[in-house]
Amino acid sequence: MIVEDKQPCNISGNGLEIDGLSLTTLADRFGTPLYVTSERRLRENYRRLAEAFSSSKDGVKINYAVKANSNPAVISVLRQEGAGADVSSIGELLVARSAGLSPEKILFSANFAPKSELEYAALSGATLNFDSLDQFLKVADLCASSTVSFRINPGEGKGEYPGITTAGKDAKFGIPADRAAEAYARAKAAGVKKFGIHMMTGSNVLDETYLPRMTSILLEIASRICKGVALRFDFVDLGGGLGVPYHADQPPLDIVKVGRQVVDVFSSKCEEYELGNPVLTLEPGRYLVADTTVLLGRVNSIKRYEKVFIGTEVGMNQLLRPALYGAYHEVAIANRPGEMRSLKADLVGQICENTDILARDRNLPPVEEGDIVVFYDCGAYGYSMSNNYNGRPRAAEVIVSPQGRAHLTRQREDNSELTRGTIVPSHLLR
Ligand SMILES: Cc1ncc(COP(=O)(O)O)c(C=O)c1O
Repeated sequence: MIVEDKQPCNISGNGLEIDGLSLTTLADRFGTPLYVTSERRLRENYRRLAEAFSSSKDGVKINYAVKANSNPAVISVLRQEGAGADVSSIGELLVARSAGLSPEKILFSANFAPKSELEYAALSGATLNFDSLDQFLKVADLCASSTVSFRINPGEGKGEYPGITTAGKDAKFGIPADRAAEAYARAKAAGVKKFGIHMMTGSNVLDETYLPRMTSILLEIASRICKGVALRFDFVDLGGGLGVPYHADQPPLDIVKVGRQVVDVFSSKCEEYELGNPVLTLEPGRYLVADTTVLLGRVNSIKRYEKVFIGTEVGMNQLLRPALYGAYHEVAIANRPGEMRSLKADLVGQICENTDILARDRNLPPVEEGDIVVFYDCGAYGYSMSNNYNGRPRAAEVIVSPQGRAHLTRQREDNSELTRGTIVPSHLLR
C-alpha cells in the first residue's frame, strides 16, 4: 500500500490533500504545527460502527470517549450522528456540554476522583460510573434517584502497549469481579433503584475475538450480581478499545464481524442468564477519531551525520504517543507525494529529551528544509495529550467539511499562554 493514500488523505496533482484541500495550502493558511481533521471520515467511522452493532435488539448506545479528542467541533459532529459522551473529569464534562450534549447523554467515569468532583458530576445530571465502592459512598446521598454504574475489572485486559492495558491484576481501574456484588448491594441499600455495569479493559485491540469473549465474561459477572443482589441492569457498557491500523500494511479491524459476534453473545447470554433487556453500550474513542486527523509540521533543519535527523516542529509536546509508548505513526511529506523514498532518517522534534523521536529509521523522500511532514492517525490522543513542555505553545486545529471547506476549530496558543496564571511574589521582583 502507498502510505500517502492512508485515511483521511489522498494524492492529487497538488500534492497530498484532504477532501479536496491541499495540505500545503492549509499549512500556509493556518500555520504549523497544525492538526487537520476530516469531518467526512469522522461521520464514516461513526456510521460504520453503529451499523456493525445495529442488529442488537434494542439498538446500541455509543458514548464517545472524549479523552481521545476533546475538540468541541469533533464532539459536535459525533453528537449530530447520535453519539453521547463518556467523560473522565469535570473539564471533559464541561467540554461535552459545550458541544451541545445534554447531561442525560453523558456517562461520568473518573478514576480516584475527590468528593467535590463526584458531587459536581452527580448534580450535573450525568450518569455516574464509579471506579470503586468508596467513590460511590462519598456521594451516595446524591445518587438514590439516579442510575448508578460500577466499573468492573474482570481480571484480564488487553491493550497494544502495557500502558494502555486497563484491566487485570496490575490495573488501577475498577472493582475486582469478586468484590462487585458488595458494591451493588451497598448502592441498593442506599436506595438506588437503577443500575448499569461497565468495563474498559484496554485500548487499540485489533483481535476480533477479544470483545465478544470479554462480553461473555462481563455478562457472567453481571448475572452473578443480579442473582446475588436481586437487581436488574438498565445498561451493560463494554467500554472502548476497538483498534485501528497505525501501520499502512496492517489490516483494519473487521468491525462487521466484531459487531455481529458481540451482539450474538450479548443476546444469547442475556437470555441464558435472564438479564432482561439491558442497553448494549459502547464507549469508543480511538476507533472513531484516530484516522480522521493528520498533524502537519514544517522541517526546521536537517543533520546529516552517521545518522540523518530531520528536525521538525512536531515533537513529543505536540504528539506524545511515540515517546510515551513507543507508538508508531506513518509519515509522509505533503509536498512530495509518490517520490522515491530513498532516504533513511529519524524524524525528531525540538524537545530536550532523547525520547523526542517521533519516527525512527523511516524511508522518506529526499526531504528539505521547509517541507511539510504529515503524521497520520493523530486524531486520538494527539492534541488531547499535547503539552507545553520546554515552553512551547500548543498547535492549532482545523476541521475540513465534506464540501472541502476548512474551519479553524482551535486557535494556536501563543507564548503568553506559558505565563498565564503565574504569579511572581513581590519580594522576588527586585
Ligand atoms: C473509561 C474509558 N472508556 C473509553 C476509553 C476509550 O478507549 P479507546 O480510545 O481505546 O476506544 C477509555 C480510554 O482510555 C477509557 O478510559
